[in-house]
Amino acid sequence: MTEVIDGEAVAAAIRSGVSDCVETLTASGVRPGLATVLMSDDPASETYVSMKQRDCEEVGIEGFHVEIDPDAPASELYDTIDDLNDREDVSGILVQLPVPDHVDKRTVLRRVAPEKDVDGFHPENVGRLVAGDARFKPCTPHGVQKLLDAYDIETEGADAVVVGRSDIVGKPMANLLIQKAPGGNATTTVCHSRTRNLEEKVGSADIVVAAAGIPGFVDGSMLKEGATVIDVGINKVDADTEKGYELVGDVDYDSASEVAGAITPVPGGVGPMTRAMLLYNTVKAAGLQHDVDVDLP
Ligand code: GUN
Repeated sequence: MTEVIDGEAVAAAIRSGVSDCVETLTASGVRPGLATVLMSDDPASETYVSMKQRDCEEVGIEGFHVEIDPDAPASELYDTIDDLNDREDVSGILVQLPVPDHVDKRTVLRRVAPEKDVDGFHPENVGRLVAGDARFKPCTPHGVQKLLDAYDIETEGADAVVVGRSDIVGKPMANLLIQKAPGGNATTTVCHSRTRNLEEKVGSADIVVAAAGIPGFVDGSMLKEGATVIDVGINKVDADTEKGYELVGDVDYDSASEVAGAITPVPGGVGPMTRAMLLYNTVKAAGLQHDVDVDLP
């Protein structure tokens, strides 16, 4: 029997734990706040940011939102980040990616104060993660780790294959899986567009994390019987729906669920976890900045 991993349920439990952290912080006179910055008119990015703001409201985190015209000079974004870095009421800052081509993404990621970098993308935080001393684990791979833990899927000694090497998912995911720490200790292979014998590698895995950004890239014929399949993909494909498209993962769910021991659906798998871990990082940031101990979920 294939177990369907319920990301909504696990995320709800994390949000509840975050609400408790907000109460602890508030009792110490600290109101955690998250600032989102959007420099894009991509409807998907707009939707993601508004969902993040709604999540904040639900758990009692104060939300701040700044929109910058995508045609504005890059300096406007850098100045905005500087202002948010200086603000006492902003615990965490998230600049929604992608930013326009005329904005240097590397500069943006370095500009956010590492103590407020709830994405975990600043080189200081990337370095800390790799060194096994993470401050903010990036939200999506951290959410995957929490899902595996919630379903008692053992990573220690497991053969894990991460498909995709992005800075946001693939690289930090692999780094978390190899850490000598709970949720780690996996023998981890990272596959990407130049990988030879991809099928063979995926077929040897106990845990497959698909984060290639290609619809249906992993299918049942590639999987080992009983493997855990985590689908990070959110791909827009044309479909005969009201909107004219539908969102599908990187895994061909129907064939994969015939073979997998456990599998995440899209939607309702990793997506809600990414959002929940952003709230987690925000209360963690507030606790660190104000020296308040919070009992993180
Ligand atoms: N765009 C897509 N995923 C992410 C993310 O995790 N953080 C930010 N800031 N932008 C994104």
